Amino acid sequence: MLHLQNYFTIAQQEELLELARNIAAINGGMTTPTMPNGARYNCSQTSCGQVGWISDRKGYRYSKLNPESNKPFAAMPAELTEIARKLAILVDEPDYQPETCLINFYAASTKSRLGLHQDNTEHNLKPCIISISLGDDCIFSIGGNNRKDPTTELILRAGDALILHGKSRLAFHAVKKILPGTSNLLKNHGRLNLTFRQVY
Ligand code: SIN
Ligand code: MN
Repeated sequence: MLHLQNYFTIAQQEELLELARNIAAINGGMTTPTMPNGARYNCSQTSCGQVGWISDRKGYRYSKLNPESNKPFAAMPAELTEIARKLAILVDEPDYQPETCLINFYAASTKSRLGLHQDNTEHNLKPCIISISLGDDCIFSIGGNNRKDPTTELILRAGDALILHGKSRLAFHAVKKILPGTSNLLKNHGRLNLTFRQVY
């Protein structure tokens, strides 16, 4: 795992926020998906790129169409492709193809979280997972490749990049808690996370 603290300047964070807002607007807003067991997520999501990650009663998967609109997801902005490829080079993946970016928004609430999971819906499980944090800090938990492995906690702050690669590619991870008001990037606080994946 590679945790790059303060990788993005405030100006870059503002630019990333603007790109994320545009993507959400093109997609007709963000949605709060349902898990296969029928429970709702405690964060809202949208995607850009050739496919988007979706979740509903039928399971977790990548889809060419946004189920909310039945239209393709917003294209990946060239700026995001470039950022992801640059980060992938740092973990020796010069051929990395950021095919999709999942955008998660966690409202400034004690309820916002993401349960322990493994990113394993990609068809190709080798390329790294690249995550960028914006807005409020969160307590992030990361363990091993088995759900029951012990976990350690770290704080992800605005401007941090986290790359799960090599041995950590399939590590279980969770967003345990948002620390509301720790950043002023978003007017009403809250946390935004951008996760790049090469799916194929
Ligand atoms: C995710 O695991 O999909 C998102 C992680 C995060 O919000 O930091
Ligand atoms: Mn994940």
